[in-house]
Amino acid sequence: MLAEMLLYRLTRAEPWADALGYREGAVRLWSRYGRCKRAWAPHLANTRRVVADAAAAAPGRRTALVFGSGLLADLPLEALCTKFARVVLVDVVHLPTVRWRTRRLANVEHVVADLTGAAEGLASLPPGTPPEPGCRYGLDDPSVDFVVSLNIVSQLPIAPVERLETKCGWTEMLVEPYGRQVVAAHFAHLQAFAAPVCVVGDRARTFLDRDGKVFETEDALYGISPPQADEEWDWDLAPIGEHDRKYAIRNRVFAIRQLRDTHTIV
Ligand SMILES: C[S@@+](CC[C@H](N)C(=O)[O-])C[C@H]1O[C@@H](n2cnc3c(N)ncnc32)[C@H](O)[C@@H]1O
Repeated sequence: MLAEMLLYRLTRAEPWADALGYREGAVRLWSRYGRCKRAWAPHLANTRRVVADAAAAAPGRRTALVFGSGLLADLPLEALCTKFARVVLVDVVHLPTVRWRTRRLANVEHVVADLTGAAEGLASLPPGTPPEPGCRYGLDDPSVDFVVSLNIVSQLPIAPVERLETKCGWTEMLVEPYGRQVVAAHFAHLQAFAAPVCVVGDRARTFLDRDGKVFETEDALYGISPPQADEEWDWDLAPIGEHDRKYAIRNRVFAIRQLRDTHTIV
């Protein structure tokens, strides 16, 4: 608890990132990773392998963009740094632990950006109409040769939806289409790149009782279906006792080595 408090204090965050709870979320992720390392290991290794393969297949060697870099636990960072002249880590918050880890990697940059394009507008609500989700980060940079969306797509709607529910009194019925818009906008953003784009993300959350029996499944992407995955696997996100004493949470993860602009996403 003390370590989390200290890390929170040492982490710099934009006012909108604080308003939407992103700084707190980053510290929570760090703390949970510390407790769940073993359960997460297969998922993290799978993600690193898929991203490393996709990056190796990309023909260019200039700039790699990493969307949702977070703790870097699922990123083959050294492989990217060897191949690309610039590796740009994009997230709403960069923990000091992450900045420390990359301090000797001269070609790594940390960029604070909101990939929903809506966080700043949502931070000033109410009153008013919520901003339309959509982000163009990186699209104007002709040196981009590789992009990865790194276990972030299902995370993007969480804070916006929570904001609309708590500050604007939106009901589940109202927030559903907004969450869907956020997910669709992220895929549209990725599909607008000319460079190869790799996507790893979770598409479903299952809840399991103490006997390991699934009693509920939730769509993590608000009804948006990602294109046919190259690979899928389970991610034991929260073993029994982590989130709740009575149930565990398991994510179904999809991996697409190269997203095409011709892929239909509905
Ligand atoms: C489940 S983590 C991804 C795992 C991460 N690659 C790692 O190794 O820790 C989701 C990441 O998405 C980031 N994130 C959430 N909403 C975001 C947004 N609107 N824009 C950019 N990053 C966001 C979080 O800060 C977090 O680092």
